[in-house]
Amino acid sequence: MPLPSWVPIREDLRGFEPYGAPQIPDVINLNVNENPYGPSDGVAADIAEAVRLAATTLNRYPDREALVLRAGLADYLGHDLTAERVWAANGSNEVMLQILQAFGGPGRTALSFAPTYSMYPEYARDTHTRWVAGRREQDFSVDLERALALIEVEQPDVVLLTSPNNPTGTALPLETVRAVVEAAPGVVVVDEAYAEFRRQGTPSALDVLDEFPRLLVTRTMSKAFALAGGRLGYVAADAAIIDALRIVRLPYHLSAVTQAAASAALRHRDELLARVDELRATRDDLAAWLKEQGFEVADSDANFVLFGRFDDRHAIWQGLVDRGVLIRETGPDGWLRVSVGTPDEMQAFYTSLLEVTR
Ligand SMILES: Cc1ncc(COP(=O)(O)O)c(C=O)c1O
Repeated sequence: MPLPSWVPIREDLRGFEPYGAPQIPDVINLNVNENPYGPSDGVAADIAEAVRLAATTLNRYPDREALVLRAGLADYLGHDLTAERVWAANGSNEVMLQILQAFGGPGRTALSFAPTYSMYPEYARDTHTRWVAGRREQDFSVDLERALALIEVEQPDVVLLTSPNNPTGTALPLETVRAVVEAAPGVVVVDEAYAEFRRQGTPSALDVLDEFPRLLVTRTMSKAFALAGGRLGYVAADAAIIDALRIVRLPYHLSAVTQAAASAALRHRDELLARVDELRATRDDLAAWLKEQGFEVADSDANFVLFGRFDDRHAIWQGLVDRGVLIRETGPDGWLRVSVGTPDEMQAFYTSLLEVTR
């Protein structure tokens, strides 16, 4: 619903709708790349106990610097990282907004390569940052020569590289990350929300973090850690970059409850991440099955697969919803994205897709 004209919203926001995938009750959710396996009773009990303890202190503001949590995240990432080189916020969405608040802004430019995560242009809009979208190739890779040429012309203050990319699942070689950071005048962010799902041999930009002070690597606990409801994203970078983000953060942005829950989840990381291997295997089976059925499939290093192509993708999406399976109508025209679910959920998807397309 458009806003009534009397609402004095910023003119450049008029006509926009709030972003969000449809949330439909009582369907199999394969639409927002969540982990289909919730925390076990044991992990849930430990998180609940940590939250109970935090509740006894809720008369006080939380640790503004979230130092215990940041130390835990640094320990998880390895690479000799320490708390002062890691920053956390309410989901990597908030981290990304803070990055654009600190490094974008009026007169500044952010650049990415489409198709990619659809929230980036919204953060650019919200922070009055000029948005430039380069194009990915037919196979959704980023052509390095073309990327460098675009960087040369646009001189971006922020480059957003997504690896593995959403919605295509495509990971970037480190050679691309290195060359882009060397060429770009501003910060380069590698969004690794899906890093834990990457195939063997696919590198992480964390491997080259120490070489480039203007490189930022963002991660999240929403996907592999099965903590989407906890809202915890984070970024690793040079300590001076983290200090720049601290300038734009809201005071006490991470509640004591969030910090306690995320720290407790981190203590159980082995158990929470135990299903990742299984999900990667299911992802590979899903891609193979789709190919066997004759669909086009984008190679995926994430916990979802982009497939197509359909003359009327909305009809396919709707047909699946009618059968109780919710996937995502996103990405280039003609393609659909399906998240990796449990074996039973995948079976329901297979059966429904065949019914809808045959
Ligand atoms: C590429 C990418 N980055 C960031 C996010 C944001 O995740 P969160 O805010 O839950 O950490 C998502 C969520 O789907 C994503 O796909």
